[in-house]
This record gives sequence, C-alpha cells and structure tokens, in this order.
Amino acid sequence: MTFNLITTARAVPDQIITNSDLAKIMPTSDEWIKQRTGIERRHLASTETTESLCIDVAQQLVQANSIGPKQIDLIVVATMSPTYSMPSVAATVQGAIGAENAATLDVNAACTGFVYAMAVAHDMAVAKGYQNVIVIGGEVMSKYVNWQDRSTAVLFGDGAAGVLLALNEDGQDHYLGDAFKTFGEKGRSLMADFRPNNSPFAKPVEADSYLTMDGHQIYNFVIKKAPVVIEEVLQKTGLTLPDIDWVVFHQANARIIQQLSKKLGLTAQQCPINIDEYGNVAAASEPLVLNDLVASDQLKPGDKVLLCGFGGGLTIGASIFDY
Ligand code: ACO
Repeated sequence: MTFNLITTARAVPDQIITNSDLAKIMPTSDEWIKQRTGIERRHLASTETTESLCIDVAQQLVQANSIGPKQIDLIVVATMSPTYSMPSVAATVQGAIGAENAATLDVNAACTGFVYAMAVAHDMAVAKGYQNVIVIGGEVMSKYVNWQDRSTAVLFGDGAAGVLLALNEDGQDHYLGDAFKTFGEKGRSLMADFRPNNSPFAKPVEADSYLTMDGHQIYNFVIKKAPVVIEEVLQKTGLTLPDIDWVVFHQANARIIQQLSKKLGLTAQQCPINIDEYGNVAAASEPLVLNDLVASDQLKPGDKVLLCGFGGGLTIGASIFDY
C-alpha cells in the first residue's frame, strides 16, 4: 500500500494585522516583535471561524482533484480552538462538503496537533484500507488571546491548511515513521481556555481563561527536547538529516527554528520559515508551510519531509514522509 500526499490547500482570514497595527493598541513595536519572533503580520479572524476556514480548505482539496466528496473516507482536523467542542470541526466539514462516507474526528495536541493528525490518518487509513483522506490543521487563536497581554498577543495568528492523502496499491508506504513525547508535568507552562464549571452543584473556581505562557520555559524546553525526538524518528526510519530535503518545524518563533537548525546542523534552505506572514497558528502552522512549498513548486516528487511540532502539553512530535 502506498500513502501519498496528493495536494494541499489553505484558507486564511482576509484581515491582515501588521506589527504596527498592534503597536497602536498596546505598548509594543514592529522592531521588538520582528527581532524576538520574526513575525511581521498575521491574519486575524473578523467573521471567519475555525469551522469556516477548515470547510474552505476541504472544498479546495476536493475541487482540485478528480475525486468527489463521496470518495473521501476520513477527515481529521487538528485544532486546539474548535468552534464548538461538539460537534467536532471534522464532522461539520464532512457535512458541509457532502463527504457522506467519511469518518471524522478532531485531534487536539496543541501545536503538535498536525503531526499527530497525520499519524492518526495514516494509521487508520492503513488499518482500514481507506483510499482518500483529508487532514487539516485549523485555528482561530485570536479568541484565546488576552489582548491586554503584549507578551502573548503579538505571537498568534488564525488560519487553516490541509492535505489530501491517498492510499493506493503500489507497494510502498510513503509515510516513513514517527515519534512522540509528552512532558505532562510541564503542561501548566502553556494553557488556554479554562472553562469554569457553573453547575449549581460545583464549587466556583477563579481562573484565567485566556492563553498564558511561560515563554522562556517553552523556548528552552523546545531547544533541548525537539532534537531528541527528531533523533528518535531518524533512528526508526534508518535515515540521517542529510537525507531530509525539508524540515518543517512548527512556526512558534523564527529564533527557535534558527537555533534548532544550528544545533542539528541543518541549512536555512532545509528549514522554511513563514512565521513572518502568519504568526504562530498552532496546528495550522505546519500545513501552511507545506502548502507554501507545494504552491511555489519547491517540493518535488520524492523529496523527504520531516515534520516537527512542539507546544502545549507539553508535547513534541516528529514524522517523516516522502512526497
Ligand atoms: N513588545 C515589547 N516588549 C515586550 C513584549 C512586546 N510584545 N512582550 C514582552 N516584552 C518585554 C518584556 O516585558 C521584557 O521587558 P523587561 O526586560 O523590561 O522585563 C522584555 O520584553 C523581554 O521579554 P522576554 O519574555 O524575556 O522576551 P523573550 O526574548 O524571551 O521573547 C518570546 C519572548 C518571544 C515569547 C519567547 O520567549 C518565545 O518565543 N518563547 C517560546 C514560545 C513558544 O514556543 N510557544 C510554544 C508554542 S505555542 C502553543 O503551543 C500554543
């Protein structure tokens, strides 16, 4: 069985907010944000929702190919900011595009979500013989952000991107392997969307529902632990970093990516960065990079791609596939 990435698509909110726009509403500057993060602008939802962005991506994926929606067997959406907890974003996408034969689920592993979603999609497809699978990362992070907190408000963006995968009988699995690690004891260093229990039977609890982050702790954690998980997936697949054409890191901060590249001995060419355009879009950030690579014809058939996501949980995941 072969598992192929057939095509990609993206949908981002029309509204673009630059660093200078943010500087008008909080004590920050274009210089600080660019220097510390690499971000220049981000797309922020005005009317768009995680659902609407993901539906847009799924419609493009189906329309760009000769398959009809009824031929989609599985839709997996990676998101930490679903429009509703129920129904799942994936179920709403399924209904909207008329993919009446598709199984659906959302995966929440924060910024590692897309790596997990690809693994879930691959393993379910192989186990069940699914032919056509859609995997989307979609987020509206702006609804979780405390717009009074400059230390986090400048970092995040909204958007969605996804891939169409197909499983065909040609004898080779193009999904080569994955590795995941969770450090749950550090989970409170990155939190969002606490919802108090307002039941008349529950004790009231005071807590911040906005996104909170210990930026330093996350930064150091990623620099230390991401290479360990990358090493594990390389060992599992029998590959080395020079075999890898593209390392698609979660776009949390350009400095993190540059430091990881240096530590691992990767070239800038191997590690595309698009955080300047989108900010940190959590589970959508890696498919947005994949979409940029496909849309600009940089990703060539046979290229080996290593995905590495990291963030809330704290979690880290890495996987390798060839295009
Ligand atoms: N504009 C101007 N000044 C600011 C801003 C801002 N937006 N935010 C903070 N500052 C100030 C601080 O108050 C501080 O001032 P002080 O020195 O007077 O106290 C100074 O800038 C330096 O702040 P630091 O927090 O030390 O800045 P740092 O260089 O660490 O950068 C950052 C902060 C960008 C958040 C960095 O720590 C980072 O990227 N961390 C990792 C984030 C990450 O990877 N998150 C995981 C993914 S998210 C997910 O999973 C959902």
